[in-house]
Amino acid sequence: MNELLDQPVLFTIFGSTGDLTFRKLIPAFYNLEKRGLLGKNFKLLCIGRRAWTNEEYLKVVRPWVEKNSRFGFNEEIFQRLSSHIEYVKLEMTVLDDYKKLADYDRFENNQSSTVNIYYLAVAPSYFSIIADNLKNSGQLDRCAIHRVVLEKPFGEDLAHARSLNEVLCKAFGESNVYRIDHYLGKEMIQNIMTLRFANRVFEGIWNNRFIDNIQITASEIVGVENRGTYYDNAGALKDMVQNHLFQILSFIAMEKPSSLKAEDIRQRQSDVLENLRGLGSDEIKDNIVFGQYTASTDGSSLAYRQEENVASDSSTETFIALKLEVDSPRWKGVPFYIKTGKRLDERSTYVSIQFKPQATDLFVSQEPQQDLLIIKIQPDEGVYFRFNAKKPGTMNDISTVFMNFCQSCIYENRINTPEAYERLLLEAVKGDDTLFASWHQVELTWHYAESINLYRKKLALPIVDYAAGSDGPDASSELLKRDGREWIRNEITEESYTEN
Ligand code: BG6
Repeated sequence: MNELLDQPVLFTIFGSTGDLTFRKLIPAFYNLEKRGLLGKNFKLLCIGRRAWTNEEYLKVVRPWVEKNSRFGFNEEIFQRLSSHIEYVKLEMTVLDDYKKLADYDRFENNQSSTVNIYYLAVAPSYFSIIADNLKNSGQLDRCAIHRVVLEKPFGEDLAHARSLNEVLCKAFGESNVYRIDHYLGKEMIQNIMTLRFANRVFEGIWNNRFIDNIQITASEIVGVENRGTYYDNAGALKDMVQNHLFQILSFIAMEKPSSLKAEDIRQRQSDVLENLRGLGSDEIKDNIVFGQYTASTDGSSLAYRQEENVASDSSTETFIALKLEVDSPRWKGVPFYIKTGKRLDERSTYVSIQFKPQATDLFVSQEPQQDLLIIKIQPDEGVYFRFNAKKPGTMNDISTVFMNFCQSCIYENRINTPEAYERLLLEAVKGDDTLFASWHQVELTWHYAESINLYRKKLALPIVDYAAGSDGPDASSELLKRDGREWIRNEITEESYTEN
């Protein structure tokens, strides 16, 4: 990693006065500075439309770092970070303005070796304008290395995503287009592959002979905050399922890749995404629940339709639950349930793998509970395994017990798990795109999102209410009840032992 320190890097953020930059990017750079990973030849060019001086920009940025840095705030580190930052006023649609960028890529070392990264933290409608202007202003001819990092949503629909991809690949080359999905930078998402493929005990039972069903849950306490304009167009399907949750699904369900190289892993992920079933025309009315939050019962939080920049008659879903299958010999007959929503009663992202019941007539007084493995992604990271053991003091009564590996507890003070953005920013600078989404994946997931929305409209599927602060609409529990199952909560409970 140390070679990064000497390399001249010009990291340009378009949209540097937006929510994402304040909340995630600048705090991530602060953390990288604290870890000593930003060299003296690292420059962070923050592009915005407002006529701010550098000092004014830093003043605005400061409270965000104070609030969002995982290391806490330290004045000296903030000053060090500030010395890398240059705020530049630039109109993204004005070609001439891009000539200003040429003033910033001169470093003490040879400018031709400068790594240029352009991070587009702006609406997708600006992606191709920026790419064209960077190209036509001659900026992309100045150095050898130019990479572009894009936030989701990648385009406004499938057709737009395709044309965008073309423009970007033409300007930068496919291998220099980095489509970010910050879930890929999360520690436990990466750990899924290690758990699966480094342990015979797991990989051997990772199939329909042993597994009854798999559930992927991402529940959030927050509402749409100040992102009403974006969210009201996207909804939970495009905001969370199409990208983050399908990424998790693809890691859970993929076949073993032939190596850990990006292209091999992506191929296996794409195989899963190509084989999703249950999301077509008529099927979706039985397999998907769309929900929207109403005000909380105690009146402390607003209904979605009362949020800023949200239409008062909006039918955008803030909650979605769906059931699908992966059409492969490994997964035939195993339902995958996915659930995500805003303004739910807890913040928790996890994958539950419920094993089939153990058919046995040995324990006459009691049926053993189904074994359960939970991969905890956040806020706690770790692995929980629930199984059956003998109740002490009795002849053969069963007790349900668990083992709980808390990764974030063990490692927090020693290596402090890097937050997703820190990791991904660093990977983009290093030129490693393993943790970024491929175009094929993006295209496939757009295809599902569009067809779901199309049939939703055609079939006039209803949107059901749930109170803010609840665990979601009843219809979502019904979805599993019909199959004789229920949603698994990420709760660690130990049955109390009662000695006979
Ligand atoms: C973003 C979505 O991609 O992910 C947000 O746009 C969501 O709506 C966020 O809140 C969740 O990310 P995390 O890392 O907090 O789970």
